[in-house]
Amino acid sequence: MALETLLVEREGPVGVVTLNRPKALNALSRTLLTELSGVIAALAADDEVRAVVIVGAGDRAFAAGADISELNTLDPAGAKRHAESAQAIFEALERMGKPSIAAVHGYCLGGGCELAMACTLRIASETAQFGQPEIDLGLMPGFGGSQRLVRLVGRGRALALLLGGHRIGAEEAERIGLVNKVVPAADLRGQAMALADTLAAKAPLAVRYILDAVYTGADLALPQANELEAALFGMSVATADAKEGTRAFLEKRKAEFQGK
Ligand code: COA
Repeated sequence: MALETLLVEREGPVGVVTLNRPKALNALSRTLLTELSGVIAALAADDEVRAVVIVGAGDRAFAAGADISELNTLDPAGAKRHAESAQAIFEALERMGKPSIAAVHGYCLGGGCELAMACTLRIASETAQFGQPEIDLGLMPGFGGSQRLVRLVGRGRALALLLGGHRIGAEEAERIGLVNKVVPAADLRGQAMALADTLAAKAPLAVRYILDAVYTGADLALPQANELEAALFGMSVATADAKEGTRAFLEKRKAEFQGK
């Protein structure tokens, strides 16, 4: 499939998706979101892809938000559909069953920040700037930002960012838990790929069960969440990889996981 707004590459078991509208600071247009939806489905379905890295093209931005020129023309019903559609795409990314890493440089604003938050982990270059500036457009986030930001950094910090609309640098983003790690600009891609390779080498079914336990469990009361964990733990024990992992430990050798 020829893509207009994304580049998709494979580096071993890692799928690398580049948001590729650098002249518009990789703003998330409808076309980009539609293409992203198809790419996520394809990466999710490909068993040889064990982890995904998302980056922004150019030297200025991961993504500077939803495309404001398109937002400008929406009526209320259309805006609701637009939000629901983008939310479904980001949920598909979050629930792909394999880890995704946002490798963030430059502006990571609005929908760009919402996309990064839908990834499993975030690595930021020292140059990265995060924010939810919708309030300064007289708007609010619509791609899950008012919900994922609260879950990642807590209600007080999320409200300060959502209502303030200001930008924060990479170090503050790390301090409040919005990003997992800050690295020098020149190391961003290398470190994101190294982390993706590390995750790609883990037992994929155990990875899937952990993601399911964390994301599904977050929406349940603790007793039900623990029940879910026990059920998934039982499933993890039933895998060939669990037999191999425990046997390899006892035999003092490195485990060879097969994804079974
Ligand atoms: N949607 C559409 N186009 C965008 C965009 C967005 N979210 N963000 C940037 N662009 C475009 C600009 O219109 C400009 O296009 P042009 O060269 O055709 O005029 C280009 O990207 C470069 O942006 P520009 O504003 O000229 O760069 P800057 O260095 O002066 O400012 C930002 C950078 C990120 C501070 C500024 O672009 C900005 O505030 N963007 C919007 C951020 C936002 O509110 N996001 C939430 C959207 S809901």
